[in-house]
Amino acid sequence: MIVYTHMIQLQDIHKYYAVAHNKLHVLKGINLQIQEGELVSIMGSSGSGKSTLLNILGILDDYDKGLYTLAGTPIHNLSQAKAAYYRNKFLGFVFQSFNLLTFKNAMENVALPLYYQKVGRKERNKLAMEYLDRVGLKE
Ligand SMILES: Nc1ncnc2c1ncn2[C@@H]1O[C@H](COP(=O)(O)OP(=O)(O)OP(=O)(O)O)[C@@H](O)[C@H]1O
Ligand SMILES: [Mg+2]
Repeated sequence: MIVYTHMIQLQDIHKYYAVAHNKLHVLKGINLQIQEGELVSIMGSSGSGKSTLLNILGILDDYDKGLYTLAGTPIHNLSQAKAAYYRNKFLGFVFQSFNLLTFKNAMENVALPLYYQKVGRKERNKLAMEYLDRVGLKE
């Protein structure tokens, strides 16, 4: 069992983008700790690096310096397969454009991550309906 005090921990995170022949230094030493169940919002002016930070937290992009640990696991230089595993196990996304799969119904959209966790069809559909019910979308 891995023991950790924070679900999300960022230590001195730096991120650069390559622009033309220069490096654009976007994140300059971000420190952040978020506990399990904590509700946090990230605010800042346009271009300040919010999306850059969220892409790193969501393991959609990597960083250049520092350390990100998620549930006690160092997140850096992960293979595509490992990144997908940790995204599936620990992360959920609600995008502004909701990215639903149009060829699947609501239940199937909600159940999809469970398919990747190899949960059987009956069980994952039951869970999906329970969660749709919780947010008033069952009908
Ligand atoms: N893929 C990229 N390549 C080069 N520069 C980028 C890239 N993505 C973002 N940037 C630059 O990095 C900086 C931070 O951008 P980011 O999108 O993280 O800001 P933001 O806080 O999310 O802004 P907004 O409020 O407009 O969404 C900006 O200067 C942006 O132009
Ligand atoms: Mg943004």
